[in-house]
Amino acid sequence: MPLVPLANLLKKADQGGYALGAFNCNNMEIVQSIVTAAELENSPVIIQASQGAIKYAGLNYIIALARQAAEGTAIPVVLHLDHGTSFDQVMQCIRFGFTSVMYDGSQLPLKENIAQTRRVVEVARVFGVSVEAELGRIGGTEDDISVSEADAFFTDPTEAEQFVAETDVDALAVAVGTAHGQYKGEPKLDFDRLAEINRRISCPMVLHGSSGVPDQSIKRAIELGVRKINIDTNIREAFVGAMRRVLAGNPSEIDPRKVLGPAREAAADVIGNKIRLFGSAGKV
Ligand code: G3H
Ligand code: 13P
Ligand code: ZN
Repeated sequence: MPLVPLANLLKKADQGGYALGAFNCNNMEIVQSIVTAAELENSPVIIQASQGAIKYAGLNYIIALARQAAEGTAIPVVLHLDHGTSFDQVMQCIRFGFTSVMYDGSQLPLKENIAQTRRVVEVARVFGVSVEAELGRIGGTEDDISVSEADAFFTDPTEAEQFVAETDVDALAVAVGTAHGQYKGEPKLDFDRLAEINRRISCPMVLHGSSGVPDQSIKRAIELGVRKINIDTNIREAFVGAMRRVLAGNPSEIDPRKVLGPAREAAADVIGNKIRLFGSAGKV
């Protein structure tokens, strides 16, 4: 079927008490692994592309790959822009056929983040495209945030309430203790904050930096209202790890298919496990 917007799938996930997996892609093999895993699990799925992925693969290629993947299957597939920080880039993605966009104004002062996000929502609505926004600083694992700094970086529930009321976004990415990339220790999520934000906002929450978060924490976050969970690092580890193993076993291998085929399978395995953990298996 054609690519679908995110908003309706989020509503269904909210009613069903599960989360949708949003998986980052950079190339054809990863797009294929996402859709193959989702099909096997009979699950709706979100393919997402960062600005870096778009720069690497090209916007037209990303769209063509995702469209082809969606049209070849009966499961609902969303194409989502991940961390769009430029208004123009977000507009370009909407124009070219993304069915969901993230406008990430988390580096801006609250008032400006609200104003820019609101502008994006106004345009996106016209095209039936869903909008995710970010409030608070999610950052990378290298930006070690100490407990005493948490209040300054984590999403403030009162601000979240104002942000969602004034922007009318479909989903809000929150900073509650996760970070992008590989964790050095075990991430500790601020569940009280998650619960408080959930009480105050009318849209579902998104968890970024979810690779390496223990399964029990993921389940608790879903109980507390997280409905979209972003995974990139675990896919990269599986994909490149399989490439390394093939090349270590046969350093003279020159057939890309012999290297990328096992990488695609390894990525699909990881994605399938996440889909089961998130509870979206069998929800088509
Ligand atoms: O949120 C970050 C994602 O893992 C995308 O990373 O910007 O290197 O593509 P990237
Ligand atoms: P990880 O790479 O930590 O899984 O985070 C992915 C993400 O949040 C993409 O927006
Ligand atoms: Zn992210």
